[in-house]
Amino acid sequence: MITGGKNTVQREFCFLLWMCFLSVCLGLDNKLNPHWRQICPRIYLSAFTSFAPRGNQSAGAYSKKDDIHSLEECITSCCEEEVCNVIFMHDSTCYHITCVTSELCAPLFRPEPKFGKHVTMVLVQPVSPTETWGEVIESAWADDYRNKDLSMEAAETHYNCEVGLLVDCPVNEVCVQLVTHSRNGICQCVEEYQRNSTGLCTPIYSQGDLGGRTDTFVQEVTSSRPIKQLVVSAVSKEVRLPENEVTLSAFTVPAEQPGEHYKYEWTALAQPEGVNSGIMNDQNGETLKLSHLIEGLYMFKVSVSAPGAYGETYANVTVLPPMHINTPPVAVISPSSQTVKLPNTGAVLDGSSSSDDDKIVSWHWELQQGPLGYQPHLQDTSTLQLDNLVIPGNYTFKLTVEDSHHATNSTTANITVLKVTDYPPEANAGQDIIMYLPHNSLTLSGNLSTDDRGIASWEWTKSPSDQDKAVDMQNTRTPYLQLSNLEEGMYTFVLKVTDTSGQSSSAEVHVFVKPPTNKPPVANAGKDITVSLPQTWVLLDGSQSNDDNKITAWKWEQLRGPSTVAFSASNSSCTNVTELTKGEYEIQLTITDDNQNNASDSVVVTVTQNKNAKPKADAGGDQAVVLPVSVVVLNGSRSSDDLGIVKWEWIRESSSLALGRVIANSDDSPMLMLTDVVPGRYVFRLRVTDEQGATDEDTVSVIVKHDPHLNDLVELTLNIEGHMLTKAQESSLEMKLSLLLRDEAEIHVRELRTEDRTGRAVIVFYVERRNGKGILPGPVVVSRLREKLMQDSGLLELSVANIQTAVCQNNCSGHGVCDQVTRLCLCEAFWMQNLIMKHLGNGDSNCDWSILYVVIVLFISVLLVVGCGWGVVSLCQHACARRPHKRQRYSLLDEGENDAMIPRASHGKIMLSQSDSDSDVLFESRKCRQNGDARNGHGKIRNGFVKPGRRIKT
Ligand SMILES: *[C@@H]1O[C@H](CO)[C@@H](O)[C@H](O)[C@H]1NC(C)=O
Ligand SMILES: *[C@@H]1O[C@H](CO)[C@@H](O)[C@H](O)[C@H]1NC(C)=O
Ligand SMILES: *[C@@H]1O[C@H](CO)[C@@H](O)[C@H](O)[C@H]1NC(C)=O
Ligand SMILES: *[C@@H]1O[C@H](CO)[C@@H](O)[C@H](O)[C@H]1NC(C)=O
Ligand SMILES: *[C@@H]1O[C@H](CO)[C@@H](O)[C@H](O)[C@H]1NC(C)=O
Repeated sequence: MITGGKNTVQREFCFLLWMCFLSVCLGLDNKLNPHWRQICPRIYLSAFTSFAPRGNQSAGAYSKKDDIHSLEECITSCCEEEVCNVIFMHDSTCYHITCVTSELCAPLFRPEPKFGKHVTMVLVQPVSPTETWGEVIESAWADDYRNKDLSMEAAETHYNCEVGLLVDCPVNEVCVQLVTHSRNGICQCVEEYQRNSTGLCTPIYSQGDLGGRTDTFVQEVTSSRPIKQLVVSAVSKEVRLPENEVTLSAFTVPAEQPGEHYKYEWTALAQPEGVNSGIMNDQNGETLKLSHLIEGLYMFKVSVSAPGAYGETYANVTVLPPMHINTPPVAVISPSSQTVKLPNTGAVLDGSSSSDDDKIVSWHWELQQGPLGYQPHLQDTSTLQLDNLVIPGNYTFKLTVEDSHHATNSTTANITVLKVTDYPPEANAGQDIIMYLPHNSLTLSGNLSTDDRGIASWEWTKSPSDQDKAVDMQNTRTPYLQLSNLEEGMYTFVLKVTDTSGQSSSAEVHVFVKPPTNKPPVANAGKDITVSLPQTWVLLDGSQSNDDNKITAWKWEQLRGPSTVAFSASNSSCTNVTELTKGEYEIQLTITDDNQNNASDSVVVTVTQNKNAKPKADAGGDQAVVLPVSVVVLNGSRSSDDLGIVKWEWIRESSSLALGRVIANSDDSPMLMLTDVVPGRYVFRLRVTDEQGATDEDTVSVIVKHDPHLNDLVELTLNIEGHMLTKAQESSLEMKLSLLLRDEAEIHVRELRTEDRTGRAVIVFYVERRNGKGILPGPVVVSRLREKLMQDSGLLELSVANIQTAVCQNNCSGHGVCDQVTRLCLCEAFWMQNLIMKHLGNGDSNCDWSILYVVIVLFISVLLVVGCGWGVVSLCQHACARRPHKRQRYSLLDEGENDAMIPRASHGKIMLSQSDSDSDVLFESRKCRQNGDARNGHGKIRNGFVKPGRRIKT
């Protein structure tokens, strides 16, 4: 078939052309009706007009669907089938193809008229889930090309044609579309035909090549071929598992002649579904060997071909399930025995739990033994329902079950039917009842009545002797009888109860209706009251309440109102209601009589304000306080108004001291709080305002007195930061101080604070002698402590920076004031410090000297000095006139004067400087005393400072 002259370039070109042509045809896929994808998502492509499966009939098992006539139904049904790969519609006949392989089902162009518009092919799912139709078709095209290249090459001469017009092309040719959406095409040979050298399409077979193609669809075409028919026969086989191997043999008539070689080809058309559903050996031999078969039907086709001869046949292999060994059933009845107590007559026997290895096909019940006269008709069901076991006795029922292999088994069950005595009921209508009018209704209860099987009916009646007595009866056929509108007198009611077997019993109950014994009380809280402010109370009287007997309890309570009122006596007939304010109150009186009957009544009290009374201010009265005091409180809360004070104002009068701080904005609250007060007089005016704007004022004065212990207070400054001082240190200091003072002294700590500039801790205290000997004056305490601390500065453990009275107690000689901070005197005009006393005396600042006297003394001193000088000069002049030894005397006098002056001047200088520099030295060490000053120590401390300058001098 392949001529050697063709070059490869041309072949490649032809292959591309062929692919192109097929793609164009397969382009029909684009026209796939979208609706089909909805009904079958597995659908791949469709509508292959002029196409048929490549394998033709041997492509797989064709199953014809006689009941389907539309393409959509055909697709839907194929989609639902597991084994359907492709559908093939011929006219309106639907075939489902179960393909042998996907390749055999791949579409092949069939230009013959009978494959024209009559057929449609839809690819649904490939045989193997790992394949895709796209790949399958592509590999099929490549095969086609190899087989077809000759015919394509022969198609060098062709006719243009119009697609769809069958008559357009010569015999054995069809018009093939070249471009999608175009009807222009070329005439080409139909399938299995090729152009011969004269340009006519001739069958390929006529050239002696079968090509393994067996095509029954073109049988009409091929039947005219001169092919010898082979008669092939194969015997179907049946095997039973566990045997799973079988061989199929094909016989041909005529048989294979020597030198002749028949070609066998076995194909499986159908096989049971399953993973490894069999293995075929010798597929191309005379005998097919099958192994690993599973239960089900296998269908095979064998085709035998020889040059110029062909035949085929079909054979089945049926694999039967393994032989079954039957186990007989087991009959079970539950319950196996039971007791039925009359009057119950029903029972159920359940045989459905009988078991079998396969299946129970029938149940049969029979009465094996029973009391005489019992002739049941028993249904053959798995569960037997009996309903007429009326005769007491022993019944035995037999159940026989039969399985699918007709094996049987049986069992029995017993039912005992017992007759039980039914006792009559016992009626109980309850106990007799006394009631008092006006109560005139009642419920009688018969629920204490009993019966062994339960009471079936109840009946309440009035005793015949009471027929003329009026009463309304309800629910007479229940256990609970409701009576109403009873009248005074005695009633008898009869309860009759009946049980299920008609036995009955009766009981009586008596109801005594007595005349009324007590009327409920009537409460009267009095008439509504209106009062006007400033009256804020009202008297309520409930004594008009009455009862036929006696009221035992009274209770007043407030129902509503703008404020909560107070009752002077809420449990008596009269009460005084106080703490009323403007508005409307409702107050209820509840009374109880000796029969616990209650009644209540309420009274409305309206409080009006006809005219506004102005408020009354009360600043709390004058007061005197003694320092120290941390806060002075002025209480104006006793101020009053008929309705209420809305505004408080505390105003400091102009005559009042200005010092003193109002805290927490208390100057607009009822209580004024004042801190940091100083001795003197404070005057405040309280102004109160009521809701209507009326005001009233009251003035109060507070006299703040000096601290009586002011002069006794001692300030001890410690060399420790105020925030470092612990309570323990402070307590121990207190104890040590009292020990130091020895004088049975008790330390009263007045204040603990920090020094403003240095932040050092300062303890302010005074000392009280024990046994009521009074207070130790501050200066005394200071001097004593200084003395002790001079001797041993470590006595207090904590280092002491300074000790002094809390206020300066220096009177500055009556001519000046002491500066509280520096402790120096600020002298009045014409007065000055006594310098001698200051430096030689106790060192205290003073204002001893009158400047006038000092000036006079100085003047006189100057006069004296001048006078003396003049006298000396005069004497010298007088002497010199007689003795001329001036020079020697001068030098001697100079030396002496210098000797006397220089030390004095330098002493003075040292004293000054040392006095300055020592102002920060405290309680200088024992060294000072070693200098011989111990005996003068007392006099040398001024305000706690040692004055070594003076020591040097002495
Ligand atoms: C080609 O086929 C036609 C029709 O079958 C036949 O008449 C003609 O002789 C053939 N030509 C050749 C060269 O085989
Ligand atoms: C094989 O079995 C199928 C289905 O039972 C039946 O239609 C067919 O006729 C059988 N073929 C043979 C050769 O027995
Ligand atoms: C029924 O069986 C019980 C024992 O199962 C026996 O006592 C009784 O007599 C039997 N009754 C009749 C009527 O046979
Ligand atoms: C029914 O089955 C049980 C259990 O297999 C067996 O014991 C009994 O004999 C069987 N009865 C009949 C009547 O076969
Ligand atoms: C039923 O009763 C008979 C005798 O009355 C006794 O032999 C048999 O065992 C009983 N069967 C059952 C299942 O109780």
